[in-house]
Parts: sequence; structure tokens; C-alpha cells
Amino acid sequence: MPKHFLMCRPEHFTVEYAINPWMDPEAGADREVAIRQWEVLKSAYESLGHKVSLIDPIEGLPDMVFAANGALVVGGRVYGARFAFPERAAEGPAYLRWFTDRGYQAQAAEHVNEGEGDFLTLDEFVLAGTGFRTDLVAHNEAQEYLGRPVISMRLVDPRFYHLDTALFPLDGHNVAYYPGAFSEGSRRVLESLFPDAVIASEADAAVLGLNAVSDGRNVVINAEATELQLELKRRGYDVIPVDLSELRKAGGGPKCCTLEIRGEI
Ligand code: ARG
Repeated sequence: MPKHFLMCRPEHFTVEYAINPWMDPEAGADREVAIRQWEVLKSAYESLGHKVSLIDPIEGLPDMVFAANGALVVGGRVYGARFAFPERAAEGPAYLRWFTDRGYQAQAAEHVNEGEGDFLTLDEFVLAGTGFRTDLVAHNEAQEYLGRPVISMRLVDPRFYHLDTALFPLDGHNVAYYPGAFSEGSRRVLESLFPDAVIASEADAAVLGLNAVSDGRNVVINAEATELQLELKRRGYDVIPVDLSELRKAGGGPKCCTLEIRGEI
């Protein structure tokens, strides 16, 4: 099943503020390299048969490349993002407008939430992260708007500040995750929901190996996450390694650059 992704070319990408432990404004980042790496990611999706739509990048919003944070789209309904930090606040309305301009049913959020950064959709429910960015009450706001059960997960390690840095759905029913990113209670919930999960090592999590995108068959994943790639291959997945090292300097990987549009209108 081909997927539909929304992406944003990193034309204004910089690391000029620090809102997560990956970001070092002194060290900065090379925009040209970031653009080249991002183009490879976009081509990877297209060669897998997925459709990629683009949103215009806005000057002064260096993190706008991380489209995953722009919204959560399930069943053609768009739940808007409301960012935790003022540096990214203007991205919420920009992404929402992209959808309303195209006739999607959309709702601006009342509560702080960073879109698919903290909401990951499976067939029967949505997993939602809290602890660093998305407010717990936003989990309920999303559930009420989308009419899907939302299960809360508590993140405890600042390196893994969004749920999508610590876990990714392999398909509609199973996930891969790094247990150390989660509170004890959330770990037990994950163990009971996903007895057959792929468990990632700290080393693979620390190169943002869990910030991956699976279509149920192919997994687009950071090249440095070598152990995790082996395990995915062992389980029968086709692995497409990509180098997004420049975007990782802002704390992002393949999934962060990718907003999935679920359910066309
Ligand atoms: N610099 C961005 C931030 O800290 C990175 C966002 C990464 N996106 C993601 N979906 N994890 O907000």
C-alpha cells in the first residue's frame, strides 16, 4: 500500500537555538549537506512508490523541515500541532493552513502537542508520548477529535524527547523501541501490548535509529543503526539506510522529516 507523505525542504535549516540536547548552536550545521541528505530521503520514498507532497519552507523557521511535528492526520482528519517552544510556534498554523487550503477537515489544538513527533498511529490505537513536549491533556484532545483510542507513554530520557525518537511502528500491529527511553510503567504497558517487539540497543537509539519509517515491508532508517538493521533484516524487512547526519545535529532523523497523511479526503 503506497503511502502519502508531506515533507518540507530544509531551505532555511540552521541550528541557531537549542531546544533539545542534540542541538549545539556554536557548532551549527551545514545547510547544503542537509538539503542533499534530505533529497536522498525524498527519493527513497518515491522509489518505494510512495507519494511525497511538499509544504513551502518559511524563512526564520529552521526546524520546519521536521514535518512530523506539523500535525497528526488520521482518517483524513487533521489535528493541528501547538508547539512547546516559541521558536517553533509559527509552524503549527503554517502546517494547518496547508491542509485547510486543500479541503481537509482540520482542528487547531487547544493543548500543547507536537504532531506525529509524539503521536504514532497503529491499526487499533494511537501511541502518544509525554514528558518533554506534548501535554498529557492533548492525548485526550486527540482521542476525542479522532475517535481513536490514544494510549499515553511517559518519556524519561531528554535525548529521546519525542516518542518518535524512541519507538516506531513496524506495521499496524507491532513496534520497535528502546526501553530506556520510557518510564517503568510505560515499559510494562509496551511489553504487554507488543510481546513480539523489536528491542533496540542504547547504541542504536543514540544515533536516532528508532526515528525510522516503515511501510510494513521496507524500513527507511539512519545508516548508523547497524544492529537494529540486522534484526529488521532477520525479521524479513527490506532495510533502506539513509544518512541524515546533518539533520541529526538538530535532533531529527528520517521520521522527523516525514508527516504521514492517513486517509485522503
Ligand atoms: N529541533 C527540533 C526540535 O527539537 C527537532 C524535531 C525533531 N522531530 C521529531 N519528530 N522528533 O523540536
